[in-house]
This record gives sequence, C-alpha cells and structure tokens, in this order.
Amino acid sequence: MKLFLDTANVEEIREAVQWGVIDGVTTNPTLAAREKKDFLEILPEICRLVDGPVSAEVISEDWQGMVEEARQLAAVADNVVVKIPVTWAGMQAVKLLAGEGIETNVTLVFTVNQALLAARAGATYVSPFLGRLDDIGGSGIALLEDLVALFKQHQLPTRIIAASIRHQEHVTRAALAGASIATLPHRVLKQMVKHPLTERGLEQFLADWRQLSEQ
Ligand code: E4P
Repeated sequence: MKLFLDTANVEEIREAVQWGVIDGVTTNPTLAAREKKDFLEILPEICRLVDGPVSAEVISEDWQGMVEEARQLAAVADNVVVKIPVTWAGMQAVKLLAGEGIETNVTLVFTVNQALLAARAGATYVSPFLGRLDDIGGSGIALLEDLVALFKQHQLPTRIIAASIRHQEHVTRAALAGASIATLPHRVLKQMVKHPLTERGLEQFLADWRQLSEQ
C-alpha cells in the first residue's frame, strides 16, 4: 500500500518527502483554506515537491464548471489529479475527463454503489472516507474491505485511496484490507514510526555503547 499525505501545507509535505516514504499528496477545499493563501499559488510548489500524484479538488457543482476547473488544474503540472465529488454532475465530468486523459479521484465516497459508479465513469482513483463513516456509527474498514473485494471480483482498474484516516489502526487495517493507497494527515504519518519499546531499546543500546567506550 502506498502512502499519500493528506494536506495542503508545504512544510508538512517537504518534511514527509525528506523522510522518503511519501508517494503522493491529496488536498481538499478545507485543507486548502487552512493555508490562507491562493491555492493556485501553492499547488505548483506542491507538485514540484512530490514525485507522484497530487489531488486538487474542484468546487463547481455543475459538470461544465467541474470540467473547466479540472482542465485548469490539470494544466498546472503533469502530476495533478482532479478530485471530483460523487454526484451525477461529478460522474458526467469524470467520464468526459477520462476521455481527455485527465486523471480523477472521486471523493466523499461512503457506499459500495458510489464507488461502483465512479469506477464505471472511468475514475482513476476512488476515495472512501473511513473516519467520517466511523463518526456516524458505520465501519470505514468494512466499506474498504467491500470495495477491495468488488474491484477485484469485477477487475475494475480504479485504485482505492483509503481516506479520512484518523489513527494508526486505520492505517494497519487499510493495508491488510488491500487498499492501493492510504492518504494520511501529517500527525498520523509522524506517529507511525513510534513504539515505546523502540524508544526504550534505542536508549538502552546507546547507554550500553557509551558505557563501553568510557571503560
Ligand atoms: C481525502 O482525500 C480527504 O482529503 C480527507 O482524507 C478527509 O479527511 P477528514 O475526514 O479527516 O477531513
């Protein structure tokens, strides 16, 4: 499973890229608004920093507006993927954009049927929102497992991005369920390397080594 960073913050992206484990970035209008800058100014920098797909979302609600925005976003860099919500207008836009060779990431997916529609329309990626489904008493991981089974059974080429990841268990379960990608907040990625026994073990190793060199 590949790891994407779910942020529009350039510093977070720069740091994660240096760690060497990031294969792409996803953003959304909320994350972009948090940066308090014109997103079209930030996007080219993000695309330069990341050697992989960068999802940027449309904000139009009609298919014509979505397609127009998508073309503008795709013109920013070769690695831009256009994020489109799972609505009928969105499906129409995805179909058209697929015909133009523009990659899409269908977002705000909460059911198997929504994911199936996105795949049939020709989406490159589909993003089930695990955390938000858990928030309303559903199971994000159960949805993800169903999507993995569905796409395998029908040999659908659309790749699954496990999104709305909130904690370590989501990452582990998404990987074991067979998601192609998980997109993580910086906070969750940073936590992934940590374990108390790793820290304690490292302290002990270094202390023992120092003791030897002091003898
Ligand atoms: C995914 O592409 C979305 O940007 C994101 O994962 C949403 O996460 P949230 O539910 O934490 O806002």
